[in-house]
Amino acid sequence: MNPRLALLQPYPFERLRGLLAGLTPASGVTPISLGLGEPQHPTPALIKQAVTANLGGLSRYPATAGQAELRDTIAAWIMRRFGLKSLDAATQVLPVNGSKEALFSLVQAALDPEDHDALVVCPNPFYQIYEGATLLGGARPYFVNSLASNGLRPDWGSIPDSVWARTRIVLACSPSNPHGRVMTQDEWKLLFDLSDKHGFLVVADECYSEIYFDEAKPPLGALAAAQALGRDGYPRLVSLSSLSKRSSAPGLRSGFVAGDRKVLEAFLLYRTYHGSAMSNTVQMASIAAWKDETHVIENRRLYREKFAAFFERVNPVLPLTMPQAAFYFWANVGGDDQAFARDLFASTGITVLPGSFIGRDAHGVNPGRGFVRMALVSTVEEGIEAAQRLHDHLAHRPMAVASGGAR
Ligand SMILES: Cc1ncc(COP(=O)(O)O)c(C=O)c1O
Repeated sequence: MNPRLALLQPYPFERLRGLLAGLTPASGVTPISLGLGEPQHPTPALIKQAVTANLGGLSRYPATAGQAELRDTIAAWIMRRFGLKSLDAATQVLPVNGSKEALFSLVQAALDPEDHDALVVCPNPFYQIYEGATLLGGARPYFVNSLASNGLRPDWGSIPDSVWARTRIVLACSPSNPHGRVMTQDEWKLLFDLSDKHGFLVVADECYSEIYFDEAKPPLGALAAAQALGRDGYPRLVSLSSLSKRSSAPGLRSGFVAGDRKVLEAFLLYRTYHGSAMSNTVQMASIAAWKDETHVIENRRLYREKFAAFFERVNPVLPLTMPQAAFYFWANVGGDDQAFARDLFASTGITVLPGSFIGRDAHGVNPGRGFVRMALVSTVEEGIEAAQRLHDHLAHRPMAVASGGAR
């Protein structure tokens, strides 16, 4: 087998299962998971209906490039959402089976297997696929920390020129998992300037772009940032997103990659062999989903309601910061994040993800240590119930509460 498989780290949820193994929550409490970032709002009826109305699609092989109608619909959505003047549906958009699959395969398609010096710059903490794709592609991750003491900004400016010279890909997650921070125009400009100088590809993972709290302030997107700088054709830039979070349809496995046509042309060739064409049935349901914004507005309303209720109950006992976007609270627990997660589970049945499981030791620190990630993905009622239990648990244990100190 490929010896690089041995380089892969255990998945965070596997580590979480190990951490909580053998613990039994107090009798009578129903477990509530704030661990996994899997949206649990009901998948909108219009998507389910489009699946059942298009079951005939199962009897034909789909094209890897997708149907023209799907690419047109996605291109139109991206242009509407991000105010783009041009995006060619035929050459600058490709359907993918969710952003996870696309991130994983794109990184490997973009790396040169003969380039043994290659680095992929990854945020830290981060979505674990970045690291796995990098290692399997024969490169090494170079972690750029996002520290609370630096406003959770990925500190691109801290990366020395010697590292940039070996960098082939930068993975930028905005809004970020785990803390929902949105990259600014200046930060994108810095990355684009560095990409012009060193020739690396910028991969923008934007799957949380539609989960935000102020309808008047949608997060800035990478393609829009490039357009504002007059970067016609989005050189060395691609953006990925999906319907998983936007439309509460993680099981549909439907997303897109859009941007630089040269990158997409090579990626399409790779995908033709990879065998990752999207089912025609899923394509039809995706067309229906990207055309409708009403369900997305309702989805955001539910998150807004849940975040407000959760903040109100938990903030007095565990200081919280409202994220700019995405559906996580990233909380400083003022001590050992793994012990915090174990205690919480044992006494309340609530699962949270220790931040150290999604960070790596880099530059002398694991920026996830001392934090927990709480995914507010379930129903509003369950979110409120979790908040109340957290409040009661922490109100009785003041010593375990964060001092609010930045790391
Ligand atoms: C940062 C980030 N990127 C990508 C994904 C993959 O999402 P999907 O494959 O459902 O689009 C996730 C899922 O949780 C994520 O957190």
